[in-house]
Amino acid sequence: MSILTILEFPDERLRKIAKPIKDIDSSLQTLIDDMLETMYHTGGIGLAATQVNVHLRLLVIDTSEEKNAPLCLINPEIISKDGEFEYKEGCLSVPESYEKIIRPGHIIVKGLDRNGKEIEIEANDLLSTCIQHEIDHLNGKLFIDYLSQLKRQRIKTKIEKMHRLEGKA
Ligand code: NI
Repeated sequence: MSILTILEFPDERLRKIAKPIKDIDSSLQTLIDDMLETMYHTGGIGLAATQVNVHLRLLVIDTSEEKNAPLCLINPEIISKDGEFEYKEGCLSVPESYEKIIRPGHIIVKGLDRNGKEIEIEANDLLSTCIQHEIDHLNGKLFIDYLSQLKRQRIKTKIEKMHRLEGKA
């Protein structure tokens, strides 16, 4: 397994629309394992393939306290949503930025598990937020897109400064 490099805002590759997965083969299993390892290594609770520059509809999540309940969703699709839940969201692609976002607090999502078996998940609160946040990534959307342009610009300036200090840009 290996730790993958995570793209960071304002990288334009985070804006690509991911394609549906057709083949659940061994290279996909390796990608899933690498994404899980990368998520656990960085202390994240979710990671979308888009964030590691793979533009396929795949995400991994673990919102458990013990970090022992990995969830993998292939070609996820929200089939119903209702309610409201507010959470101070962060993102591995938007370092050191946390903002309150309101999303539907109850969703039903369908997709495939890592073996290609159809699954349907009913999610509330944090898990609901996390799944929606990761599906947004697959559609080229970031949580900061829900903020005002002024707030987003402030975050952009801060991250670009960090990247300059790190010699990344
Ligand atoms: Ni994210």
